Amino acid sequence: MRVATRFLLFCALSLAVEAQRFVRFISTDGHEYTGDAILRAGTFDASKSTSARVIVGDILGNFTITKQVKPIRKLLSPLPNERVRTVRCVGFNYVAHNGEAGQPIPGWPILFFKPFTALNTPSDPIPVTAGYQTQGNFTSTMDYETELVIVIKKKAFNISDDEALDHVLGFSVGHDVSHRGWQVDRGGQPQPQFSMGKGADGWAPWGPAIVSTNIIPDPQTLNIWTKVNGVTMQNDTTANMIFGVKHLVSFFSMGITLLPGDVIFTGTPAGVNLGKANPVWLTDGDVVEVGLENVGTCTNMIKYV
Ligand SMILES: *[C@@H]1O[C@H](CO)[C@@H](O)[C@H](O)[C@H]1NC(C)=O
Ligand SMILES: *[C@@H]1O[C@H](CO)[C@@H](O)[C@H](O)[C@H]1NC(C)=O
Ligand SMILES: *[C@@H]1O[C@H](CO)[C@@H](O)[C@H](O)[C@H]1NC(C)=O
Ligand SMILES: *[C@@H]1O[C@H](CO)[C@@H](O)[C@H](O)[C@H]1NC(C)=O
Repeated sequence: MRVATRFLLFCALSLAVEAQRFVRFISTDGHEYTGDAILRAGTFDASKSTSARVIVGDILGNFTITKQVKPIRKLLSPLPNERVRTVRCVGFNYVAHNGEAGQPIPGWPILFFKPFTALNTPSDPIPVTAGYQTQGNFTSTMDYETELVIVIKKKAFNISDDEALDHVLGFSVGHDVSHRGWQVDRGGQPQPQFSMGKGADGWAPWGPAIVSTNIIPDPQTLNIWTKVNGVTMQNDTTANMIFGVKHLVSFFSMGITLLPGDVIFTGTPAGVNLGKANPVWLTDGDVVEVGLENVGTCTNMIKYV
């Protein structure tokens, strides 16, 4: 009996550890909570969840998943913007995307940063200010990029590939919103201006959850896609990354400390407008869904402001 009780307790604890899909949300009482999303039957997409078990404590430190269940009125981004001190992004990390963009296979990961003010929820509009809208003969060349996002849980400096996942809380899906006009055409010469082209407020929706490494022990096997107004534009697998998750974390820790809460957008697969003969740039009112297998979707509308 004692053994059986211990076994049951062990199972309960194991289940609690297995079930981590960290979300931050506003409930029907108007208050903000952190929770473990309860999935609806038949979907892994936490953006469809209507309730979550409340988490007390800090998901980047010590926390407890309680038995209290709260309804979800609105999902926020999984961490408040200011807890994400650094948003790292990787360029040209899928062979076929480099081909369409006319870029060689890089010898090392290509890093750029976005300000944390670029972060956005999995459902709010992506604001496009006047400077990014069409001006005279300058076409607004807004593009979409779906990406797997790594969330750091433990400070990392000078770590190896093998140590990398010990420093990772889990994975989300993110949208690296990109304006090719400011990134490339009005970029500096000969280098593109990644920051002007990609760093505007709200240009990095992410979520809907941070799915723990217990649930996704191998992030290099996941289907990743984008739909624009319901039509699939990108559809690939994270197996096609040039530099995988473990190497990106270890490589970036070579001389820059990765801090708890930092996120890394890991590059986009093929299928974007950049390099297309007949690009269909995103415009006011377009709805973009970025999705990642076992994680979920972010669905945001382009909104001229
Ligand atoms: C978690 O709690 C333990 C015990 O109170 C403490 O030693 C440890 O530093 C905490 N960990 C974090 C990441 O805050
Ligand atoms: C756009 O207009 C500017 C200013 O009138 C001009 O210098 C530039 O050559 C034009 N570009 C194109 C592609 O027509
Ligand atoms: C980085 O790690 C290597 C291997 O563990 C070690 O030899 C080296 O001293 C470390 N460098 C720094 C700056 O900590
Ligand atoms: C991606 O392609 C796979 C295999 O062809 C297909 O099953 C899946 O529905 C596609 N995903 C999207 C979002 O179109």
